[in-house]
Amino acid sequence: MIPPDIPPEFSSTRLLLRRYRPEDSAAYFQMLQANQEHLREFLPSLWQEVQNEADVATVLRQLAAEWDARNLFIFGVWEKESGSYVGELYLANPDWQVPCVELGYFLVKDKTGRGYATEAARAMIQFAFEQLKVNRIDLQCAADNLASQRVAERCGFTLEGRQRQRQRKKDGKLVDRLWYGLLHNEYAWPENH
Ligand SMILES: CC(C)(COP(=O)(O)OP(=O)(O)OC[C@H]1O[C@@H](n2cnc3c(N)ncnc32)[C@H](O)[C@@H]1OP(=O)(O)O)[C@@H](O)C(=O)NCCC(=O)NCCS
Repeated sequence: MIPPDIPPEFSSTRLLLRRYRPEDSAAYFQMLQANQEHLREFLPSLWQEVQNEADVATVLRQLAAEWDARNLFIFGVWEKESGSYVGELYLANPDWQVPCVELGYFLVKDKTGRGYATEAARAMIQFAFEQLKVNRIDLQCAADNLASQRVAERCGFTLEGRQRQRQRKKDGKLVDRLWYGLLHNEYAWPENH
């Protein structure tokens, strides 16, 4: 069943996760410029073509339409204490028949190494199971992305598959792609954490 109402924000211990607003465009453009190298392999082409704040505003409008169509739920993440931008998490490619959805994430470079990705991913997983009422969450990452694999493993995902030479890096090299899954019946964090 497609969920009728989806809360636009929620929080974890240190972080606020909320839907982007049009006024986030300027800060988002700055973030893209400051993190070009760090996010080079990760950002979809949609963002790589952005030249200025107005382009960001256009993309944010497209993402809002995707949210309203229940196709893609993108959340910006901010530190509660300082209000600083930390990164982004999304739930994409829903299949409401199962139902299941795919989790993805990035942090800006200077906010890595603090456990924020794992904390935010856990909050998103709880959101996906409890608000979107999915039965499973997919997660994919390149086989050479060890930081992302550690996030998946800390969140309790099981490695389910390896697609050989499935991803072309920006330098032209082919790498395997790993697929992880987390089932609703494997998740019991609110009680256990
Ligand atoms: C993938 C990515 C989000 C991981 O970020 P990260 O900072 O390594 O992950 P976390 O926020 O969970 O932080 C974990 C690290 O913080 C350390 N840490 C420091 N203080 C901590 C705290 N208070 N609590 C928890 N962990 C803490 C942990 O020891 C851990 O280090 P380790 O992985 O070397 O063992 C980040 O590398 C990134 O944005 N990469 C580019 C985009 C990308 O690849 N996205 C995923 C595509 S599939």
